[in-house]
Amino acid sequence: MKNSEEMFLVEGLGGEKKLNGTISISGSKNTFLPLAASSLLFEGEVRLKNIPEISDLLGMFSMLQGLGAEIAHHTLHEVTLSTDGVKSSLLSPEIAKKMRGSVLLSGPTLARLGLVSFPHPGGCVIGERPIDLFLSGFEKMGAEVELSNEIYTVTAERGRLRGAEIFFPIQSVTGTETFLMAGVLAEGTTIIKNAALEPEIESLANFLVKGGAKISGIGTTTLMIEGRKELLSLSEEYEVIPDRIEAGSMVILGALCGDNLEITNLIPKHIESLLNALLRSGVEFEKGERSIIFRENGKRKNESFHGVNIRTHEYPGFPTDLQAPMVVFLSQVSGESLVFETIFEGRLGYAEDIIRMGANIKVWDAHRATVKGPSILHGRRLESPDLRAGLAFIIAALVSSGESTIENIHYIDRGYEKIEERLARLGAKIKRVRN
Ligand code: EPZ
Repeated sequence: MKNSEEMFLVEGLGGEKKLNGTISISGSKNTFLPLAASSLLFEGEVRLKNIPEISDLLGMFSMLQGLGAEIAHHTLHEVTLSTDGVKSSLLSPEIAKKMRGSVLLSGPTLARLGLVSFPHPGGCVIGERPIDLFLSGFEKMGAEVELSNEIYTVTAERGRLRGAEIFFPIQSVTGTETFLMAGVLAEGTTIIKNAALEPEIESLANFLVKGGAKISGIGTTTLMIEGRKELLSLSEEYEVIPDRIEAGSMVILGALCGDNLEITNLIPKHIESLLNALLRSGVEFEKGERSIIFRENGKRKNESFHGVNIRTHEYPGFPTDLQAPMVVFLSQVSGESLVFETIFEGRLGYAEDIIRMGANIKVWDAHRATVKGPSILHGRRLESPDLRAGLAFIIAALVSSGESTIENIHYIDRGYEKIEERLARLGAKIKRVRN
């Protein structure tokens, strides 16, 4: 794992569009995490490919190992997991407190063992991250929830969850994934209403179906899972889908700094809301089946693009995880844009730093900001506040003139594989150095 004392040193391009070549998008962190967690529902080995080499992956492996799972084989981008030896029902409090994705283990552990204990999950600080929907859902499935010494213990009645109807008042990505997994081994049918629609969920559902689960309504807001007693099993490998947030961030970088730049191994449909916003802004690109290409983009000045209003929304709306990179984009184009963050209430904090770099951004409240462009950004010392804003800082540093340092890069390492090496191959002047 990369060291938290390391930082990135970035030499800005001063607004010039010089990045060129090809960058291939890694497997999706937020797909890998539920797939790995769902290995608890399988007997025998589960093989995943196109996994991203990121630090959250190691956190998930350690937690699974803590439960008794074996990471049988782990090579670059491929892993074989076996949960046949799982006995413990305690999710490592040390790791879970640092990783929100740990909550994904609660459902399958409870479904498999009838019992799970975990602390309130931590992770990136992007606002309140309650787990009320998880706890009330478990109760609906006949489990009892106790909180003692800051550890939740959830116990299924007679050792097995029962199917239930779960209506989500708010669409929740990991919430939907959790009950999808919990329902697989429950007694009877589980119905999830107002389920989230993110591609990660569809991918997880397809994986479970491949292993023998009976799930209908995949890709819709109502999912029906027919529970079974036997564990699932799967002999073939399953491929993690490309990371749509990394893809979207690279597309934004391409629009701002790329010339003859090709972003490959992405699924354009998964970033349609972003591509639509960029088109409205006047950006031109070529869309392939699995690629986005910026050809002769260097001839277009960023100030010839214009502002667009952005409202973050559940999929297929504009992803909250692309809000920060998009604000950097909007700071470079002409006119005023309103950015409305509807999902989280702590996700505009990073804007202060972009303002200090020279951007004209007014943050009105926890949810709204206006961005007036174009502004010339100047390199400076930055501290990454979370994973997604961390990558936005790299984009801002590359667009600006002068040198920037980005600290707290352990956040960036959580979700982006060797990002500095991949960007350097495009011509970016970015290095990892010790603080
Ligand atoms: C997932 O988080 C992602 N994480 C996040 O990515 C992403 O930002 C988020 O979805 C929104 O797209 C993973 O997939 C591991 P939610 P999740 O439950 O599932 C409220 C990253 O950097 N809510 O869909 O935790 C919640 O506060 C991360 O990779 C409750 O009120 O998000 C929010 O307002 C950051 N009670 C809304 O639902 C609950 O019990 C949607 O959040 C659960 C959630």
